[in-house]
Amino acid sequence: MRAAIAQAEVGDEQKREDPSVNALQERAAALLGQESALFLPTATMANQIALKLHSRPGDVLVAERFAHIVVYEYGGAAAHAGLMIEAIAARHGRITVEQLEAVTVSSTKSADQRPAVLALENTHNASGGRCWPLAEVAALTAAARARGLRTHLDGARLLNAAVAQGLEAAQLGEHFDTVTLCLSKGLGCPFGAILAGPGETIERAWREKHLFGGALRQAGIAAAAGLYAFDHNVERLADDHARARRLAEGWHTSGLPVDLAQVETNFVQVDIGALGLGRDEALARLRDAGVGLSSTIHATIVRAVTHLDVGDAEIDRAIELAPRALETRAAA
Ligand SMILES: Cc1ncc(COP(=O)(O)O)c(C=O)c1O
Repeated sequence: MRAAIAQAEVGDEQKREDPSVNALQERAAALLGQESALFLPTATMANQIALKLHSRPGDVLVAERFAHIVVYEYGGAAAHAGLMIEAIAARHGRITVEQLEAVTVSSTKSADQRPAVLALENTHNASGGRCWPLAEVAALTAAARARGLRTHLDGARLLNAAVAQGLEAAQLGEHFDTVTLCLSKGLGCPFGAILAGPGETIERAWREKHLFGGALRQAGIAAAAGLYAFDHNVERLADDHARARRLAEGWHTSGLPVDLAQVETNFVQVDIGALGLGRDEALARLRDAGVGLSSTIHATIVRAVTHLDVGDAEIDRAIELAPRALETRAAA
């Protein structure tokens, strides 16, 4: 990837003259089952632009209670788009058609304050990287469309879902009006994201990109990383998933509170609350032992993430060191 970055052909992205950015956008649109795509610095910016494009100030966004858009984007939906948020508590991050119906009952007042946008997340970060079944995606987006809502997919990790389920990303992405994809997570790029959608929508997204200060110049050095990632780092996500599974099973065998059913992609969540440990203490103990885990939105759950810098040897060490650091019964 570093070599691809070094050799990248570049031009002025703002004038749409950067050949690497243009090539990346074309590839990404096809990959995500959409007509057109836009390169952006971050997935947060992609989500925020999408919300603005699909709504007017005062409209309502329907999203899952712990979705990144709801809990990690600094209130951007309100700050940038003027949206109110209808946050729905949903099992594994998956809002049901019935839940959607319950929040889209037609108003009896003349003011039409009703949901305008439905945003889903796949894989769902806060539930531990779980995937949406394709049939549920199809049913929920169809129900949203029937009720006049626009649909956005925060597919920051959509390729993890596609690889885990043996699907084309386009099969999961084509149901939505717009799709975000992050290049800097499992795909391993230094930064960058994609917003894909219909040509007319992406044309309007260009304006928002400038407005957000996200229009770049010789961005081809980043786009080249994205092109490299599409060629080399997609199928290998299966390795990350297999390592996460092996890590989860190893920890589970050692007595760590790990729900094996949760491990569908590249996250392993550990319920340190069940060990009687606080989050900061657990993370500090793990860090001292040389195992880097991170916090989650849930106070009593910490998580390990497998990615292209974590190999089999690191998994072996983590399986050995973490139970000892957290002093579980089996390892004591
Ligand atoms: C589901 C989801 N969406 C969006 C983002 C934002 O990505 P970025 O850091 O590129 O803004 C993240 C980052 O963790 C995420 O997990």
